[in-house]
Amino acid sequence: MSERFSPKVVPLLDLRNLRPGTLPIPGAPVSTVAPGLLADSLGRPLRDLRISVTDRCNFRCGYCMPKEIFDKDYTYLPHASLLSFEEIVRIAKQFVNHGVQKIRLTGGEPLLRKNIEILIEQLAALRTLDGKPLDLTLTTNGALLARKAQSLKDAGLRRVTVSLDALDDAVFRRMNDVDFPVADVLQGIEVAHAVGLGPIKINMVVKHGTNDQEILPMAHHFKGSGMVLRYIEYMDVGATNGWRMNDVVPSREVVQRLQTELPLLALEPSQPGETAQRWGHADAVGQHDTAAGEIGVISSVTQAFCGDCNRARLSTEGQLYLCLFAGQGYDLRSIVRSDASDDELASVIGRIWNARSDRYSELRGALAAESGTPARRVEMSYIGG
Ligand code: GTP
Ligand code: 5AD
Ligand code: SF4
Ligand code: SF4
Repeated sequence: MSERFSPKVVPLLDLRNLRPGTLPIPGAPVSTVAPGLLADSLGRPLRDLRISVTDRCNFRCGYCMPKEIFDKDYTYLPHASLLSFEEIVRIAKQFVNHGVQKIRLTGGEPLLRKNIEILIEQLAALRTLDGKPLDLTLTTNGALLARKAQSLKDAGLRRVTVSLDALDDAVFRRMNDVDFPVADVLQGIEVAHAVGLGPIKINMVVKHGTNDQEILPMAHHFKGSGMVLRYIEYMDVGATNGWRMNDVVPSREVVQRLQTELPLLALEPSQPGETAQRWGHADAVGQHDTAAGEIGVISSVTQAFCGDCNRARLSTEGQLYLCLFAGQGYDLRSIVRSDASDDELASVIGRIWNARSDRYSELRGALAAESGTPARRVEMSYIGG
């Protein structure tokens, strides 16, 4: 696909409307890759598919969709470019046949996609290779959650993850940059909890000097709630957020700050390839107090976890990305819009995964030392977190 720049002349590089390119589908040493378990060139399986259902959002978090870029002149994808629900389900089915066990719907803000419940119903009907229901989840900013939680649950969604960067209303409004009140998100979380969309995870991106004063209040608030709060290192994802290493609060420091008021002990990973390191709240004798629960830290900058990364990402318009930091994806939409069979689609997915070698976060240091980070990286709002 061609890159589309804003028609209005001027800047050298207008980051609005920059679209990523497309990679050629790799050939296979054998003519087809049959459905079944896959391993990429580094031996990593395929387990997790993240599907972005819209590139729009009603928030303008500076680290994701800064207002200066995602302004009124920004051109979002036209409806015809979006994968239809039927196309998404057809592609998802082939991923599940290759071993995917978890599907996460993302955006932009996925609750802005019209009739998302219909898609959820269809995805909830899929079964893993060993006949189990999928771990079907969704990442939301929570703005529409109070209204939608019950219908999402009824459609078959299992759980939700809510992005929440602060409890302090002024800080929260500044971070979402659309003056959205934190009380409405907290209410959304309560409703989701009440209808059984748990275990709920709360994702907080920590930015030095912006919301790091909220690290402790957030931990106190969610301790004992049955929800898992995760602190995320602010990443250099995309090309628009003006990332600087100085803005990152390393997870090590987050844990140290928490320990000043809340004793923690390290917990074992709950599954391979997990993004978060888990820490349990400790009781008076230093054991894990399971009623108090746990927190997580996601250290993509200071402690990369590419070694067992089992995540694939499908963009809103059907491009398959093998890494959050990839500059280009593989065009699956043109395959589902051709007369290709399901077997051919499965074979293409298998070939792409088998050839995968991405491990950007691990290489970040080396890349930066050489020539700076790759020039064109896809936006998180386009492929989803
Ligand atoms: P659970 O199954 O609920 O544990 O979800 P998850 O942690 O796999 O996914 P989630 O979308 O909640 O991830 C939380 C955050 O971790 C994202 O918003 C990103 O900031 C970061 N993240 C997730 N996946 C990746 C990844 O593959 N690479 C990197 N570098 N960061 C990731
Ligand atoms: N760094 C880390 N996480 C990010 N997200 C978006 N942009 C970034 C970034 N630059 C994640 C957050 C948010 C989700 C939608 O995407 O976790 O909750
Ligand atoms: Fe929207 Fe989430 Fe990005 Fe914020 S982080 S702009 S809520 S997609
Ligand atoms: Fe996976 Fe890429 Fe993230 Fe590494 S940087 S964990 S390869 S998505």
